[in-house]
Amino acid sequence: MLEVLEQLPADPILGLSAAFKQDANPKKVDLGVGVYKDEQGRTPILHAVAKAQNILLANEDSKTYISPQGVQGFIDGMLELLLGKGHKTLIEQRVAAVQAPGGCGSLRILSELLKRANGDLTVWVSDPTWANHIPLIGSAGLKIKTYPYFDKEQAGIKFDEMAACLAQVSKGDVVLLHGCCHNPTGADLTKEQWHKVLELAQQREFLPFLDIAYQGFGDGVEEDVYGLRLLADNLPEVIVAASCSKNFGLYRERVGLAAMICANNQVRNALQSQIQSIARAIYSMPPSYGGALVDIILNSEELKAQWLGEVTEMRERMQQLRRLLADKIKEKSGRDFDFITRQKGMFSYLCISPEQVKKMRSDNAIYFVDSSRVNIAGISHQNVDYIAEALVAVL
Ligand code: LMR
Repeated sequence: MLEVLEQLPADPILGLSAAFKQDANPKKVDLGVGVYKDEQGRTPILHAVAKAQNILLANEDSKTYISPQGVQGFIDGMLELLLGKGHKTLIEQRVAAVQAPGGCGSLRILSELLKRANGDLTVWVSDPTWANHIPLIGSAGLKIKTYPYFDKEQAGIKFDEMAACLAQVSKGDVVLLHGCCHNPTGADLTKEQWHKVLELAQQREFLPFLDIAYQGFGDGVEEDVYGLRLLADNLPEVIVAASCSKNFGLYRERVGLAAMICANNQVRNALQSQIQSIARAIYSMPPSYGGALVDIILNSEELKAQWLGEVTEMRERMQQLRRLLADKIKEKSGRDFDFITRQKGMFSYLCISPEQVKKMRSDNAIYFVDSSRVNIAGISHQNVDYIAEALVAVL
């Protein structure tokens, strides 16, 4: 009976890594999956993480189950990082939260929770959004619609259209927002635009769902949660999926946080039990290792300072690479690609067509997502001329 299932096409992002590995072209460049790389193209273990691993190895004395919510020190540390120390929602004990297997695990169990709360609601996602948002949210059985977000012609956010769309959203619907470093476009809301989103959420009574996977890669660890904190300060309910894959470099350890800010402590307690029962029915409890490392880092002054330094280093390197790429394109073609320098985080949207992307892949072995999203961290001083020339050739 199993033969009824057909082979599916490769994943639009992860499939690129497999194709890249098979390509024999010595000049090949990987700008696909969102993984940080240094000048040598390596994805190193952060020093703060390496030290935390040693501490964990020396102190861990059992592999028995952890509690269903995950590592409590991880949850507390992450909530403080996201909301700020002593945030009123924490003092008022209004936040339910669990450690989850990565940002994906967080998005999925929060979607399951939304489905339990109201099976008929619609989740509004930006057009475009991260390719895996729709499968993750859709698999929970929720309806999905898009709101206008990015204008490829102008290489910027079309905020008036976005706001006009959100002004029509039904009460109780959910609006998924990228906390910072929008994936795939790198185009983030300004502070004024976040205020307008807050106003719309208050007027329409929709529930904001923030996905924050790149805290620290945009303008800074504190700066990047401006929108999240604004909403958390002013709304009774906000839900958050956070990932430690990128900013802690813990990709394969699958470390994420699913958090729900609730109207009061009673609702919080109910949601805490609900989210744990959802996790129990899928994977029982999260793997502890990555969460234990983040717990050690965030709860040690020395390691936290070192980690913050390493996040700054990664952010500044990506900012320099943005400038370098835009300058090289200008040098080789006279064209203005300065919008790359205004985009934030790990991704840039080159605003070229899927055909042009595929041509760069077949002619030059430069791999990136069909939407024209490139991983900025895959650029280096060695390959930037090659990338800029190939881009200019398809323009
Ligand atoms: C990306 O967007 O490339 C990363 O978040 C990796 C993934 O799972 O898609």
